[in-house]
Amino acid sequence: MKSTSLLLAAVVAVGMMATSASADVKKGQKTYLKTCKNCHGNGTKGAAMHTQDEWDDLFANGGAKIIKAHAKDKSAAYFNGDSFKEQSQDLRDFLFEYGSDSGNVPSCG
Ligand code: HEC
Repeated sequence: MKSTSLLLAAVVAVGMMATSASADVKKGQKTYLKTCKNCHGNGTKGAAMHTQDEWDDLFANGGAKIIKAHAKDKSAAYFNGDSFKEQSQDLRDFLFEYGSDSGNVPSCG
């Protein structure tokens, strides 16, 4: 009996890890489509703006470089606000996953 519930717990734990790993990319994609698409085109195009290394760089230090790139744009309020702080990790995960040198292409969007 005990080993069954242990096994079940392990299965649940592994399942949760698997979903949260891909959920961030999915969440980032959703955020991208909602927030960035109007100006930068669909997700494939947006993520292909940069290589994975460049995305890491743009999102380093709380996204300092990407915030700076929009400082004079009307999107500056978003980048300097709480929404970007909350969403930047997911956005990074999505853009990094599909960066121009990743060989990956998002299934939709
Ligand atoms: C209201 C329009 C607008 C929105 C919304 C917007 N951007 Fe931008 N973005 C610009 C402009 C304008 C620039 C600066 C000019 C340029 O380099 O294209 C820029 C620059 C950038 C750059 C750096 C320049 C380059 O070519 O690498 C990146 C990366 C970028 N945006 C990604 C994003 C991401 C990711 C989002 C969503 C979180 C976003 N942008 C939302 C308009 C926008």
